[in-house]
This record gives sequence, C-alpha cells and structure tokens, in this order.
Amino acid sequence: MSLAFTPFELGPLRLKNRLVMAPMQQYRGASDASATAYHPFHYGRCAEGGVGLIIVESTAVAPEGRLFKDDIGIFDDAHIDSLRRVTDAVHAHGVPVFIQLSHGGRKSNPPAGMSRLAPSALAFDAAYGVPDVMGKEAIQHAVRAFAAAARRAVAAGFDGIELHAAHGYLIHQFLSPLSNRREDGYGGALKHRVRFIDEVLAGIREAVGTAFPITLRVSASDYVPNGLTPEVVAAAVCELKHHALAAVHVSSGGLLPVGPESAHPGYQIGYAHAIRQAAALPVIAVGGLHRRSLIEQVLAAGQADLVAIGRPILERPDFMTDKLASVAFED
Ligand SMILES: Cc1cc2nc3c(=O)[nH]c(=O)nc-3n(C[C@H](O)[C@H](O)[C@H](O)COP(=O)(O)O)c2cc1C
Repeated sequence: MSLAFTPFELGPLRLKNRLVMAPMQQYRGASDASATAYHPFHYGRCAEGGVGLIIVESTAVAPEGRLFKDDIGIFDDAHIDSLRRVTDAVHAHGVPVFIQLSHGGRKSNPPAGMSRLAPSALAFDAAYGVPDVMGKEAIQHAVRAFAAAARRAVAAGFDGIELHAAHGYLIHQFLSPLSNRREDGYGGALKHRVRFIDEVLAGIREAVGTAFPITLRVSASDYVPNGLTPEVVAAAVCELKHHALAAVHVSSGGLLPVGPESAHPGYQIGYAHAIRQAAALPVIAVGGLHRRSLIEQVLAAGQADLVAIGRPILERPDFMTDKLASVAFED
C-alpha cells in the first residue's frame, strides 16, 4: 500500500499526499526584493507537478537579513502583491503553500550601509567576516521583523509559515553554542539559547493567530564536537512546542563550513526519526529522498510523517507523477 500518496492533516490543513516541495532559493528576486514574474510561473508549475505542499524559498524578513542580493523579501508591505501572485498561482492547482521566513545573521549580504548582525562576534568564514553583535534593541528589532513578515504572509494568502532555524542562519546562530557566546540571557544554557526563537515564535503567533500552521526547519547537527546534535535540537523543540508547531522540518549543517562525510540518500533520516520520537511532533524528512521505495520505507517505519523533495523538482516539477519521470522515481 502506498503511504506517499495518502492524505495528511498538517494542523488545520489536509494535504493530498505526503510529498512536500522543499524550500529552494531561485535567485530571481527584483532589486527591491519583490518576487518577479518568474516566481508565480515556477511555483505554479511545481504545484501542478503533484506535491501535497509547497514551501516557498527562504524569504528575507529584513533587508540586512537577505542571504543574497537577488533573494526575495517580505520586509515591506510593497512586497505583498508580488507574493500574492505566487499564492494565487499555487492555489490554482488546489495545493497549499507556505513561505519560509529567514534572516541570515552572520551569513547575510546586507545592502551598503547596513551591518551584518549576529549573536556574537564570530565569523562564519573570512569572506563573510566578523559580524556586529546584536544588542537588546537589535534583537527586539529582529523579533518584530519576523512578526511583521508573518502578518504580510497572511495578507499575501499563504497557508502557513516555515521558520528557518537551520543552515547556519540567524536563528541557528542563537541556538548553537558554537556561534552564541552571549552572557545576557540569550546565551549559555539551552534554555537561554532558545530564548530568541521563543520570542520570534511568540511574535509570529501573535501576528497570525492560534490556528495558522507554523513549521520549524532545524539543522539537527553542526557536524563538529560540542555543536548541535539531534538530542540537543530535540530538547530545544520541546521547549518551543507550546507555540503549537505543526511540524519540524529536519535538515542539518550550515553553521560552519563543514558537512557530513557522506550525503547519501536519506542521510538525515536518523535525525528526523530521533526528533520525532523525542518531541512527539510530526516531522518532515529531507535529503536525497528521491526514490519512491525509500520514501515508502521511511513513512512505513514511522521515521517521518512527510517527505520533502528538493533538486529533482527543480529539474522536473512533475517527476513524481509524470509517466516518463516516474522511471526515475519508481524503482
Ligand atoms: C538550489 C537550492 C536552493 C536551496 N534553498 C534553500 C532555502 O531557501 N531554504 C532552505 O531551508 N533550504 C534550501 N535548500 C535546501 C533544500 O531545501 C533541501 O534541504 C536540499 O536540497 C536537500 O533535498 P534534496 O536532496 O531533495 O535536494 C536549497 C537547495 C538547493 C539545491
């Protein structure tokens, strides 16, 4: 029996199947960070391809938090109309669509005149350089930016929000002891390192109300000693559960320029399973899950509730459902 093509209740939403389009930056934003004509075309085409949920790419909540200069943003009301065209294009195919809200922190490329901000003065690498330490005011500014972005996401017609707490960006930087050396209540013990995420989630919840689905994308490992592990991340998720998270989306890495020894198909599955068990929340697994047999196995074993697919959808949006493409998907 197929599990991949059975429905799933994600918070108040009923997804037609367990396959999610992973958030993937397209580097096609306008200079003011609006979505361009490409985005509704791209996401509409992907919705038509057969996934049960689309997660729109990393979208900056503040100009200084853009990862690249051609990222899309949601830091101004002027961005809402261009994003509304994206949600309309996806909804035309009966598919729900989330937006991934992000701030790059020390891995941002801010416009001229703006600083690269982070919890501590620790560089990702020499090219990004040493960031400016966020004072309490800068922290509150970022919290308010996430909340305002969430309000705009609702106005643009999104069905849910994915908070980007993975891949070494600002929220991950607060969570990992390797990038957060603060001693002011936002750093130190885990309960202090989750405080920033806790405040961000509280702000988003207040902006979107109690029923709106929020997923949290995490990196379950920093791939270095003393960094984040699935156990620590699961403990953090437990601290944040009271914000009514609809699911945890389990990725890994990005805090430092190091990675896993092998990114083989399903290499992050163990992390997803560990977090699902420890946090008792639905999880989305991701990473090389490109074969139907592997996806069915992961779902049947209860290692994940949903499976996100990335690169193959960029190559062929319909690769799971199209007869020709299914030669690759089915095995
Ligand atoms: C071109 C590209 C852009 C990506 N952009 C994002 C992003 O905006 N946000 C994010 O959390 N992950 C991003 N990722 C990671 C994907 O969401 C996904 O986790 C990764 O590609 C592994 O899944 P896959 O093996 O099915 O491709 C990106 C990956 C690719 C290839």
